[in-house]
Amino acid sequence: MTDVSLGMPQLPAPDYPADVRARLEADAREVVARYPDSRSALLPLLHLVQSEEGYVSRTGMRFCAEVLGLTTAEVTAVATFYTMYRRKPSGDYQVGVCTNTLCAVMGGDAIFEELQQHLGVGNNGTTPDGKVTLEHIECNAACDFAPVVMVNWEFFDNQTPDSAKRLVDDLRAGRPVEPTRGAPLCTYKETARILAGFPDERPGAVEATGGAGPASLVGLKLAKGETAPGARVVHPRGEAPRDRPTPGSGHLSSHDAPQPTSASDPRHPSGPVGPAGQDGPVTEEGE
Ligand code: FES
Repeated sequence: MTDVSLGMPQLPAPDYPADVRARLEADAREVVARYPDSRSALLPLLHLVQSEEGYVSRTGMRFCAEVLGLTTAEVTAVATFYTMYRRKPSGDYQVGVCTNTLCAVMGGDAIFEELQQHLGVGNNGTTPDGKVTLEHIECNAACDFAPVVMVNWEFFDNQTPDSAKRLVDDLRAGRPVEPTRGAPLCTYKETARILAGFPDERPGAVEATGGAGPASLVGLKLAKGETAPGARVVHPRGEAPRDRPTPGSGHLSSHDAPQPTSASDPRHPSGPVGPAGQDGPVTEEGE
């Protein structure tokens, strides 16, 4: 007779060993003390238990529920909602390939495809040595540097299939790997502890910068009146594109070339209208 699962409830999760529980309880008290309402500490506590086992186990969820006075169902609902919480044992290095629109067209889809072949795992699969878990991820607000690969949430910008394969080979071999910008790389468990709100003790991590790229900052600089004329993106309606850089001469990257928009195309019917509701450029006099 076929063994059919009847969907019976699982037995209660086992507790942590006493020494682990005592250590986590001390950490949890520190986290909970930061919030006026203890249940607000659930997200960092999930990172804390993730830093213990590398994923949010049933034991970890039981711990969070007991510490915060929640039901395990409430904790499970949160832990299964956010993709940053893993639900099964995974690798030391989570290699996330951005396959959101911009990265996908810039090569992210090809990178993900080749890494699956190269590592012999599918999405959310872990290599047999337990080193690398591969997953495709959504936009990480690093589109300036597409296609982007994240390792334990550190940036590896402007990747190619070959550079991504070298990256995972280095990770598996234990060779030193430097993110393109930002803080140094650490293991997934160490990252989870930092995300739980504990001090980042990696040398140079706090001082490291990994901010937005030049293309993202053009709008901010325009708003502050700081942008040099050569970097203007949009021309006032009706004006000739007097300051468009020639290819290769003024662009900050290959992705930030000024694009035609309704504001730069005097023939475009959807541009701004005059005060009387008539199509046409808005003059300085507002006529
Ligand atoms: S689309 Fe990949 S970082 Fe934005």
